[in-house]
Amino acid sequence: MDFRLPYAHRGLDHDPQWYRRAVFYEVMVRSFYDSDGDGVGDIPGLISKLDYLEWLGIDALWLPPFYSSPLKDGGYDVADFRQVLPEFGTIEDFQELVAQAHSRNMRVVMDLPLNHTSVDHEWFQESRSNPDGPYGDYYVWSDTDQIRQQIRVIFTDTENSNWAFDSERRQFYFHRFFSHQPDLNYHNPRVHDEVRDIARFWLAMGVDGFRLDAIPYLYESDEGSGESEPETHEFLKKFRSFLDEEFPGRVLIAEANQWPKEVAAYLGTNEEPECHMAFDFPIMPRIFYALRSQQTASLNEVLSETTEVPEGAAWGVFLRNHDELTLEMVTEEEKQALYGWYAYDPRMRVNVGIRRRLATLLDNSRKELELAHGLLLSLPGSPFLYYGDEIGMGDNIWLEDRDSSRTPMQWTPDRNAGFSAADPGKLYLPVVQSLVYNYAFSNVETQLAQQASLLHWVRNLVHLRKEHPVLGVGSLRVVPTDNPSALAFIRDMQAEDCRPGERPETMLCVYSFAHHPISVDLQLPEEFRANRVTDVMGGASFPAPTEQGHVTLTLPAQSFYWLSLAGVKQSVA
Ligand code: NOJ
Repeated sequence: MDFRLPYAHRGLDHDPQWYRRAVFYEVMVRSFYDSDGDGVGDIPGLISKLDYLEWLGIDALWLPPFYSSPLKDGGYDVADFRQVLPEFGTIEDFQELVAQAHSRNMRVVMDLPLNHTSVDHEWFQESRSNPDGPYGDYYVWSDTDQIRQQIRVIFTDTENSNWAFDSERRQFYFHRFFSHQPDLNYHNPRVHDEVRDIARFWLAMGVDGFRLDAIPYLYESDEGSGESEPETHEFLKKFRSFLDEEFPGRVLIAEANQWPKEVAAYLGTNEEPECHMAFDFPIMPRIFYALRSQQTASLNEVLSETTEVPEGAAWGVFLRNHDELTLEMVTEEEKQALYGWYAYDPRMRVNVGIRRRLATLLDNSRKELELAHGLLLSLPGSPFLYYGDEIGMGDNIWLEDRDSSRTPMQWTPDRNAGFSAADPGKLYLPVVQSLVYNYAFSNVETQLAQQASLLHWVRNLVHLRKEHPVLGVGSLRVVPTDNPSALAFIRDMQAEDCRPGERPETMLCVYSFAHHPISVDLQLPEEFRANRVTDVMGGASFPAPTEQGHVTLTLPAQSFYWLSLAGVKQSVA
């Protein structure tokens, strides 16, 4: 299929808050399309698939690291921040990607892992061999590994300490992740200058922002937890002012896998903003919990908690990404339940999480996939899709670590799923050939040929959401229901939130996590009482609320409604 749109490309719009209305798509360069037949995806390959992403409705790409790297941690182990890994392409290829994306009004956000480098980075090599030289203090060195023992280990499957001994310098260095990823020393102001210059280098090339990898861990102290320490926030405030001054309109997205209040802190305040966006880690595992427990209490709770953000800030909501489905921020009871439901085979687990894709987690249930996407695309903030989830791609738990869900994108039923012309044995990872998710039928081409496929369904929902910006930028108010399996909230967008061409709108979103049909009673708050209730998908009229604002709805098992509320509101507006 030719995905090119029949009209002339629009170029980049100039909304400085573009990220608040954007649908993001996380795509690893290595995994999307191999243009030169070497078995590894590359930047020209990604460029050749931009038409597909535009067709899908994607407004912004998030690219995990593609820097020069030994690839021991999917590229998050950077050896040179100013080089593209040769097998992925060149700086010129990247510039072309940015230009091509921008010509489609698509933004490009790249990962910036600031917390650590690879041991192969020249700074580390200099630091270990010349302690008194200019790089001697670029990393966190200590004569003993007995300090800072209170700081938790994150990669519990591979590391048992945050310290590793360097035989050359004969000292320990601190590492929050793998031992081949030494932490940079943020107490050294030269490190600040370096990372700012790296940011400038890519911003000058036109990138639209950075996902700030592992941002809570920049600073550590002898007494603190090494997470969200006050100096980390101070650094971020300064980094934000630099960005606003030199590159307005570009964004910072915080990867802070923390409890709700701590995550919100990464957005800063109106007076002292930090990141423009933060991934909503607290809500994600609770969606999976609700799908199996049929209970929405903890979703309700966390939704009511995390909605206050500074002006212009937005949540990044997601179901899955290139990492494990992390269970660090749920209660012990929830964690055990989630493991039991979703990781019944020990190979499905890694560290404190589950290394599976969306479709396999949901056992390929179309109902659950629709419900999960319906919620994702209506939660406050901007949704991030993970490549391949739009076709319900499977995973491969027999691969190591998180490679289980980083396998090649499945384009066609042909050799290597149409990802590469290489000898199949040469692929960076094998394509998924499992019984249920075999690439022979789980691929873009096959799903395009079937109007009722998940791909068409997801695309339609993405486009529907884009027609209703209230779903991205509207305020949120949880509406209590009488059914513990139901979740309801109102999204409301006032005239002052509208861009030219948009209208104020109020939407009632109702979800049933029950595994059987239910009836739900809702009491609409007074200011949202409407006399017209319309289903946004099909346009059908629903019974109007009673005079007291009472609504009764019936929902099939695991289903949802997006209902537009109009009438009373409109006469007010
Ligand atoms: C967060 C990234 O998402 C993850 O993939 C990586 O392993 C860690 N940072 C450490 O770099």
